[in-house]
Amino acid sequence: MTPQKDTPYEEAREKLLSAERIAVLTGAGVSAASGIATFRGAEGLWRSYRAQDLATPQAYARDPQLVWEWYAMRFRKVMRAQPNKAHEVLAELETQTPHFTLVTQNVDGLHERAGSVNIQKLHGNLTKSRCERCGNLDALPLDFPIPPRCSVCGSRARPNVVWFGETLPSEPLEKAIDAFEKADVALIVGTSAVVEPAASLGRLAARHGAFVVEVNPEETPLSHLAHLSVRENAVEGLAKLEKNS
Ligand code: OAD
Ligand code: ZN
Repeated sequence: MTPQKDTPYEEAREKLLSAERIAVLTGAGVSAASGIATFRGAEGLWRSYRAQDLATPQAYARDPQLVWEWYAMRFRKVMRAQPNKAHEVLAELETQTPHFTLVTQNVDGLHERAGSVNIQKLHGNLTKSRCERCGNLDALPLDFPIPPRCSVCGSRARPNVVWFGETLPSEPLEKAIDAFEKADVALIVGTSAVVEPAASLGRLAARHGAFVVEVNPEETPLSHLAHLSVRENAVEGLAKLEKNS
């Protein structure tokens, strides 16, 4: 098949194909086609739920039962969901790139399930609990008691996610910054780019000379600095960026 010529995608495709280093940042939009709700926008979780009641350390201290029930509901939903074509294209791209880092704000575990390997999770994951006393992580069984208890010391465990007001885990954040500083191509998919520090990664890559591609049906604060803004959903947009597509 002859590669398409003279399309706005051609340069991006060539950059992706020849890049030594690709850094990807994903947000909730990448899981939308798997039926997982985003946070912002018309159907977003933050339209029906108040973040300050559910996703802060204070909320958990006030009502751990309520917070756990909300995370358990989302956990059950992601366990029933399947990775979509966008997750798969990103897993495939990793196999074709010498140095590939996928940084995600998502906590749904769908990138792993699609086969991505080098994943830096900035906001933790829904699929594990974390002991409040010893920090041990336990994979949650499908039907876990609320609150779950640590398998090592028996103490109460909390969701293994980052809440508003908490510091991000340092290792994934450092690896994310390193990857975006060194990237030849930065690909930013399905994030509103308003929550820091993830939102700054695109700017960081642009400052260091990366070719920046954004895939998002809506304009974001990163759009103006992207060399190519693909105004499509993640599945369609990534398909257009795939080689020979
Ligand atoms: P948001 O819900 O803020 O943004 C989702 C983005 O995906 C928006 O820019 C949409 O335009 C875009 N979008 C919607 N459908 C899409 C599709 N099918 N394909 C591609 N893009 C689509 O989600 P995040 O940016 O991930 O943090 O949110 C960042 C953080 O804010 C989350 O990790 C969470 C949230 O509050 C915490 O809970 C700490
Ligand atoms: Zn423990």
